[in-house]
Amino acid sequence: MKLLDIYARKKKEIAQIEHELEGSIYTDQPLLKETSLHLLKAGGKRIRPVFVLLASEFGRYDLERAKRIAVPLELIHMASLVHDDVIDDANTRRGQLTVRSKWDNRIAMYTGDYIFAKALTVVTELENPRVHQILSKAIVEMSIGEMEQIRYFFQPEQSIRTYLLRIRRKTALLIAISCQLGAIATNADNACSASLYRFGYNVGMAFQIRDDILDLTGTEKQLGKPPGSDIKQGNITLPVLLALREPELRQPLLAEIRRIQEADGQTDVEPFLRLIRGSRCIDRADELAARYIEKAIRSLDGLPNIRAKKDLIEIAHFIGNRSY
Ligand code: IPE
Ligand code: IPE
Ligand code: MG
Ligand code: MG
Repeated sequence: MKLLDIYARKKKEIAQIEHELEGSIYTDQPLLKETSLHLLKAGGKRIRPVFVLLASEFGRYDLERAKRIAVPLELIHMASLVHDDVIDDANTRRGQLTVRSKWDNRIAMYTGDYIFAKALTVVTELENPRVHQILSKAIVEMSIGEMEQIRYFFQPEQSIRTYLLRIRRKTALLIAISCQLGAIATNADNACSASLYRFGYNVGMAFQIRDDILDLTGTEKQLGKPPGSDIKQGNITLPVLLALREPELRQPLLAEIRRIQEADGQTDVEPFLRLIRGSRCIDRADELAARYIEKAIRSLDGLPNIRAKKDLIEIAHFIGNRSY
């Protein structure tokens, strides 16, 4: 199953969201206009707005209200990517130059701020303080997650728990609230929005684990950026933490990590990638992602068997195996 097939039923709504995303960041300021449109036009999976739309079907479906959540969630995601690429010194994203690379870091910081602010402009059209609280809390957690990532750069001794806590903050919570807020926007009951939150949280954990696996195993074409970007930056992810526990891999891996750190990431990371790719830790990490996906799907057990539930399950399976 391809993502596009799952999206087919929602094609019209997604096209509307696409249009509103563009309108929402409109400005006369020529540079901001160009920089903020740059990432939007590069595409992306739009998975968070799709989750909002599907979750909103569990309440009294109202596309206008769902859009007031879907658009800001994609904007928050985009703003965080523009900032993330500054933190990660990334040159490409979605197969295009990053804002920081096409312009510079300063311009990327303000572009990210601008897109964040535009997200708030849209969401405040919904006069529901609970929605605003949930959203701002998630942004706070994301910032903490990204800071924690910096704090643990090049630290091979960190625990798997530390890793899981970090990806919970930087990725899983935003996906969790996409599902939760979609349901809240259309007045679904509390039990329902809580189940959808748990679904999104578990899918989100699997989503980042797959992202971290792909960074080690994918090709540049698949990823829209070169593989090995995480380790160049010092970001030690689940497959690496698992491999470090293998007695025969530990010393060669530690030596590689040290070499990459000493070169400040400006070195060939192929030898490091080869060590990881040849180990069983990729499969082990995949198994953990699969467990999160199973948990996500079980979270939906108590919900009515509407079409949206089937779609959510299909997307969850897609994410568990995603290769882009
Ligand atoms: C990338 O998110 C950042 C992570 C949380 C792993 P996506 O993989 O959803 O990025 P796009 O929007 O499809 O480019
Ligand atoms: C996700 O982490 C970024 C955010 C949650 C903002 P990554 O750093 O792994 O995302 P990519 O790989 O750059 O898309
Ligand atoms: Mg990154
Ligand atoms: Mg990544």
